[in-house]
Amino acid sequence: MLVSAKEMLEQARDGHYAVGQFNINNLEWTKSILKTAQEMKAPVILGVSEGAGKYMTGFNTVAAMVRAMDKDLGITVPVALHLDHGTYEGCYKCIDAGFTSIMFDGSSYPIDENLAKTTELVKAAAEHGMSLEAEVGSIGGEEDGVIGMGECADPEECKKIADLGITMLAAGIGNIHGKYPENWPGLRFDVLKQVKAATGNIPLVLHGGTGIPADQIKKAISLGVSKINVNTECQLVFAEATRKYIEAGKDLQGKGFDPRKLLADGCTAIQDIVAEKITLFGSANKA
Ligand code: 13P
Repeated sequence: MLVSAKEMLEQARDGHYAVGQFNINNLEWTKSILKTAQEMKAPVILGVSEGAGKYMTGFNTVAAMVRAMDKDLGITVPVALHLDHGTYEGCYKCIDAGFTSIMFDGSSYPIDENLAKTTELVKAAAEHGMSLEAEVGSIGGEEDGVIGMGECADPEECKKIADLGITMLAAGIGNIHGKYPENWPGLRFDVLKQVKAATGNIPLVLHGGTGIPADQIKKAISLGVSKINVNTECQLVFAEATRKYIEAGKDLQGKGFDPRKLLADGCTAIQDIVAEKITLFGSANKA
């Protein structure tokens, strides 16, 4: 069931758990995530970066595939199809393509420009019954060409953007896209507490979910995080399982070269990691 992310995130906020956003790259990713969410009776958000959208030939293709798959698999849990780290232009493309949720990442703009563009997009998203995520303070590292310096969010700016009527807020709290370096000092819970105090009831989003230790995830949820994004971890487990399949020479046995067999272990690995995250985030049996 394709829906905006608003209701599922408000329920997560009130129920003190987080909804997982898992990024998709192709049909196999989408199928693996949807099937796992359905089995675990968990609401889920499918994230699509602009790069992944382009790879899949465009946002129209993505929206058509996700809607059709949702129907063909008989998915009954709430699913939001969400643009991840969208540009201003990308947001409008996803509105037109039939996404149910968008993120406008205006964190690289001066705050006044971020606020002005977010204000416009709040209106456009509302007209289409879509949810909107905004960002203040950038997420460190690189995600599909979007590079952030990782500066922590300013609580005053968070309040200004939260007051515009956005659905959810991504605030940088020392989190990083991709793998965390050995010397990463951990999430800035002091900043998270200040952001929460400044923004009140708005569901907060934690990007860079890959590799954050379970105790920090749980603490972040207890302090107001209602959505957690995971991308790299699915890529890593898929690549590892596929490499093992090929290194074991399984593609050379019988019809092991059939793509349905070749990609099967990778898909199982994605399902396992998504199930693990849904359990950790506390969103199982919430749909
Ligand atoms: P990771 O790739 O670090 O899991 O981050 C995902 C993310 O935040 C998507 O926006």
